[in-house]
Amino acid sequence: MKVLVTGGTGYIGSHTVVELIEQGYEPVIIDNLSNSKIKVLDGIKAISDIKPRFEKFDICDIESLDKFFENNRDIKAIIHFAAFKAVGESVEKPLLYYYNNLVSLMNLLRAMKKYNIANIIFSSSCTVYGDTEELPVTENSPVLPAQSPYGNTKQIAEEILSDHAASHKDFNSISLRYFNPIGAHPSAHIGELPIGEPENLVPYITQTGIGIRKELQVFGNNYNTPDGTAIRDYLHVVDLAKAHVVALKRLIDRSNKRNYEVFNLGTGKGVSVLEMIESFNRVSGLSLNYKIVDRRPGDVEKIWADTSYSAKELRWETESSLDEAIKTAWDWEKRLAKEK
Ligand code: NAD
Ligand code: UD1
Repeated sequence: MKVLVTGGTGYIGSHTVVELIEQGYEPVIIDNLSNSKIKVLDGIKAISDIKPRFEKFDICDIESLDKFFENNRDIKAIIHFAAFKAVGESVEKPLLYYYNNLVSLMNLLRAMKKYNIANIIFSSSCTVYGDTEELPVTENSPVLPAQSPYGNTKQIAEEILSDHAASHKDFNSISLRYFNPIGAHPSAHIGELPIGEPENLVPYITQTGIGIRKELQVFGNNYNTPDGTAIRDYLHVVDLAKAHVVALKRLIDRSNKRNYEVFNLGTGKGVSVLEMIESFNRVSGLSLNYKIVDRRPGDVEKIWADTSYSAKELRWETESSLDEAIKTAWDWEKRLAKEK
């Protein structure tokens, strides 16, 4: 079965493509390579023995998208990863984010209608819960005002999907609210490839460990948490990728309860920044150089998932431990260093 994966050469997309191939699906990738590299396809081939079909264009370009669907009438489902995701950049360039993240989604929804494609999985984020007071957060926790234009694009996208689903009974959609994906494929053939200085914690840690960065800055140690640093729910990207295959099966089998559903994808455990550093030190045998600095504006204090609904409905739970996930991130960083 052919599945379109937008953003399929990106971090989460590439790991999902591998899992799709493993489960017998035929992923077809569209990516404009704005935040990924074509050589990711070689990494996928090294793992799966199959180089997936790839087309390079911007899905905001409706004519190219139309041509694509004209030539690919047998696509049964879409997994839509393509978006911009840098929170800080979205504050500086909000229109870029609203345009790219929302026009791409609307182009896909219109094409789905025109070409009779029923199923779509959308990459949402725990950022929709904002600075929540309810912990852990369930899928029914309130969606609080977005902390950034990026976060707002996820909230608006979810509303677009929900409204579209309400008016189109034959349309089937799932939003997956990811908590913090980390790590790489255990083969170290694919992983996270931040362009420039990483914004996210784990690539910053591994780049500091390997010597690309001098030290990690820990953003704040005066939060109301046991060690004072902020808490997140970090899940292995391979576990996250597998959840997409489960959600896809749910849509295709029509075992979904409603034609728009939302699931949290996390481990259910909160981990502090200092605990992340301890995990890295255990796994690498190093002692990471870090210093405490001021809080990063816009950061929430703590958030982790209530995973009971996804465990019950999707029968999906994370399998990897934190140390296992960090080890794969470290193996990937070491491989990148060797290739240089
Ligand atoms: P990524 O940047 O690695 O992958 C996104 C891919 O989409 C990139 O390869 C990029 O080149 C492509 N792309 C962007 N805009 C495009 C367009 N208009 N047309 C075609 N291709 C386009 O990001 P990721 O970490 O793999 O994230 C995937 C999705 O998951 C995004 O929607 C992101 O917002 C969401 N998400 C990510 C995280 C995270 O921590 N990584 C957390 C929550 C949600
Ligand atoms: C952010 C977004 C999330 C988005 C994700 C992917 C928010 C609230 N969340 O997640 O929506 O999907 O990025 O881009 O905006 N940290 C340091 N030093 C660093 C980097 C990070 O101490 O150099 C800390 C942060 O303060 C935070 C934790 O590490 O407490 C995780 O940060 P990060 O990896 O950037 O993810 P989020 O901010 O949780």
